[in-house]
Parts: sequence; structure tokens; C-alpha cells
Amino acid sequence: ADETHKEKFRPQYHFTPKEMWMNDPNGMVYFEGEYHLFYQHYPDSVVWGPMHWGHAVSKDLVHWEHLPIALYPDSLGYIFSGSAVIDWNNTSGFGSKDNPPMVAIFTHRHLNGKPRGFESQSVAFSVDKGRSWTKYKNNPVLVDENSLGFRDPKVFWHTNTQKWIMILSAEDKVRLFSSANLIDWNPESSFGENIGAHGGVWECPDLFELPVEGTQESKWVMLVSIGNGGPNGGSATQYFIGDFDGTHFTPVNEDINWLDYGKDNYAGVTWSDLPDNSRRVFLGWMSNWQYANVVPTHPWRSAMTIPRDLYLKCTEDTYRLVSSPVPELIDLRNNVEVVSSQVISTNLDLNLKNNQLCQSEYIFEFENATDNETLKADSIIVEWSNVEGERLEVGYLLKKNVVFINRTVSGLTDFSNEFPVKQTAPYSSDRSLKLHVFMDWSSTEVFVNDGEVVMTSLFFPDKPYEDVRIYSKGGEITLKEAKIWELNSVWNEDKRL
Ligand code: FRU
Repeated sequence: ADETHKEKFRPQYHFTPKEMWMNDPNGMVYFEGEYHLFYQHYPDSVVWGPMHWGHAVSKDLVHWEHLPIALYPDSLGYIFSGSAVIDWNNTSGFGSKDNPPMVAIFTHRHLNGKPRGFESQSVAFSVDKGRSWTKYKNNPVLVDENSLGFRDPKVFWHTNTQKWIMILSAEDKVRLFSSANLIDWNPESSFGENIGAHGGVWECPDLFELPVEGTQESKWVMLVSIGNGGPNGGSATQYFIGDFDGTHFTPVNEDINWLDYGKDNYAGVTWSDLPDNSRRVFLGWMSNWQYANVVPTHPWRSAMTIPRDLYLKCTEDTYRLVSSPVPELIDLRNNVEVVSSQVISTNLDLNLKNNQLCQSEYIFEFENATDNETLKADSIIVEWSNVEGERLEVGYLLKKNVVFINRTVSGLTDFSNEFPVKQTAPYSSDRSLKLHVFMDWSSTEVFVNDGEVVMTSLFFPDKPYEDVRIYSKGGEITLKEAKIWELNSVWNEDKRL
């Protein structure tokens, strides 16, 4: 039997590399029945180093098969983040119309020549469903020797102008280029110097159109990860809503928006060429540069988030990007536990078994908290804990309008000062509160009211949590219903011990 993917802290239904270091998801593309996931990978160590593109494929976004490394560093440098597309019309000439090439567009990070190196864009292609790759002979294809930060190209086909568009990050902004053939790139515009959050360098942008739910309208969404200055410290991903005409991106407002308020969702981008082109599936790297290199896992480091469908909602004239766990995850559910409606005055123990508790999905629905006079609680708290007193809290402060994840005493935390913190997100709910929570041994992902606010957070209990309870402070709360499913492991048939 395959004994890998069973170690302490190893997620059982999230993507992790079999071993060694991983950071950003790269080159996500769908082709002939397979979702491809490439990722920043250093195969010789559990810390960041010379970057390769690791590779895996899935038929359902949930069960992954590890494939050999797709791209190795070469004389032009390390292989940094980027994207992949299917060149259906063979505009690049790398394949044929009958066998359209899969083309990867990535950053070469040169280490020699300039004091701090420099970055340029290169391409590689595959004509055998991503199994083998050839780097283009005249790489790099896009060079700007004046800027150090010039990386993470995300490419898509823009139907209205019939051109390829590349968005990439350039220190404190993004830049846009266009091309007819994925090889020759022309500058179009830049965006971001005077807008958005700038606590760190801009990285890993994405740009895509989404329908606005319940309307005939559509808008463009730009994702931009920033290396530092996130809402709870360190790296995080912001987004802008606007219009894109093939040349310029024009935001509808100057708001700062966060895709995820938790500390552990970074550098995420979306899949290209999905068969259902109204769908936008997002995957993020579930870590933070503040401590990514020192989290206590072995022999691998880092996991991806669960895949999430992105939607655009417009309420009271503001647009909100909403994240929802992909429905493909539902197939992992078994052993449902249902807790029916009740008032919780002090404490409700959920009496779940280990796997049910740590490798599981929870939906908690609480009664409308503001319209009901009998509800006087200040806070609703769900707490996972073990006999050693380690605990993780997920909750809502009704009077302060704040969702939080508290991992200050969640287990091993002393590997970094930035780790043991209480993470918060502003959120006011004038209707009932629904907390949809995914636990996977060392991570939690919390979707509030169908993903209007999302928080993703790691934790490392010395012993797995063995107890979960719901309680309130400052008064009673009404739990309408709770549902808990144990989720299957996607790596091994037999259950984890
Ligand atoms: C984001 C990032 C990218 C870069 C890659 C290097 O986490 O810094 O900007 O391409 O990681 O591994």
C-alpha cells in the first residue's frame, strides 16, 4: 500500500506535493478531461530554492495524480510562476490545429548579470497532454531589464479583440501586454500605482470576466497578491472589480477588497480553458511568506486550498467576489451527523470521532441574531480542542461585527512570532449566520454566509483535536441546524489512523 501522505499534519483531501517544498499554484489549465496543476517546487529540500514546475493531474479537481516535474531551471534561471493555455488555433505554431499545443508562459528568474538578478518571460509547450515539455528556442520572449519585479504572467484569450492578453506583476503595479502568437508581446497599459493595498510587492495577478449574479451584466475581476501588508499580516490577495476593453482595466471604485481574510491563502489564480466557460475555479497556496519555510511538516511543505468557484455579487451598489467550495468535494462526504435546532445556553458538545472531527466538513446555521430580542449573546464560538488544552476557535462577534479565527493556543506555534495570532474579518450579518468550515488535520477554511467572507488558516496541534463544542458568551444563541460530514482521504483508500 502507498504509505505516503499519512504523516502527522498531512492534509487528506487537499493537494500536497508527495515530498519537499511547494509554493504557488502555476499553469492551471484543463485539457481533454484533465485538470492540470503545476506548482512552484524545489525537489531537493523542504525550503524554498531553485524553482521548478511540479505537476499533477486530476479528473475531478479533488483526486490528484502526481506526475514528473514539468520544467527544470536552466541557463536562463529559475522557473518562477506563470500560467498555461491551450492554443486552440495554433497561433504559436508549436502544434497543429488537430493537436493544439498546451503552452506554458512563465518567468525566468536570472541570478547572474545584474546585482539582484532580473526577470523575463519565457514559453514552453507540450503536444502530449502536458507529459513532456519543450522550451522555446528563442527564450526569453519578453524582457525588461529595468525592473527587478517583472513576473508571474497570466495569459488568456480576449475574444473581443482576438488577441492573447498577458497580465503580470511589476513591483508596485501590474502591466498588460498583448500578442497574436504568444511569442511577440506588445505593451498595452499598466494599473495599480495609485490604487489598492501596497504593503508589499505585487505578485501573481489574474484577470477574468464574471457575470454579476442575478443580472445581465458582467464585470472584470483582477486578483493581485501582495507579499506583505495583508489584513492580518504578511501575504494576502486583494482584488479589483472593473471593466476591461482589451487594453485598459478601469476599476469601478477605489475600494480595497480581500479575497480571503485568513493568513494562509496566497498567490492563488484560476483555471484556464474550463469546459464550462461560465465557471471560474480558484486555487491558492495555503501558507504565508512570514513562516512558509518553517512550518513543522515533514517530508513535504505546504498544501493548496480546496478549489473554489468564484462568483460576483452586487449588493447595495458594491460588488463582492464570493468564494464557494467546488461541488466536486461533495463526493468525499460520508457519515453525516445532524444536530437539530436548539438553544445553546452554555455549551454544546458535538461528541465526534477523530476523523469526523479533523478530516471533515461542518455547516453551522445560527438564527438571525439582530432581529430577535431574546438573543443577547456577544459572541458565538466553535472550539476544537485536545486534552493538552490546545484549541482552535472560529467565531463571530455579534456586536462588533467581526468574524475571527483564533489560533494563539492551537498547538505548535513557536516556529514564528507571526503565527500565534487572532485573525479577524469585518462582517455584519443582518440575516442568519452560516459558518461552513473545512477541517483537514492542520488547516481550516471558513466560508461565512455562502462565501461572502472567507478565512483560511493553518494550525498544528501537538495531538489531533479530539473534542469540538459550540458555546456563546454574554447570552444564549440559537443553533438552527448543524451538519457534519467525515470526508474521505483522496490519497489512500484506507482511513488515516
Ligand atoms: C509568489 C512568488 C512569485 C514568484 C514565486 C517564486 O509567492 O514570490 O512572485 O514567481 O513566488 O517562487
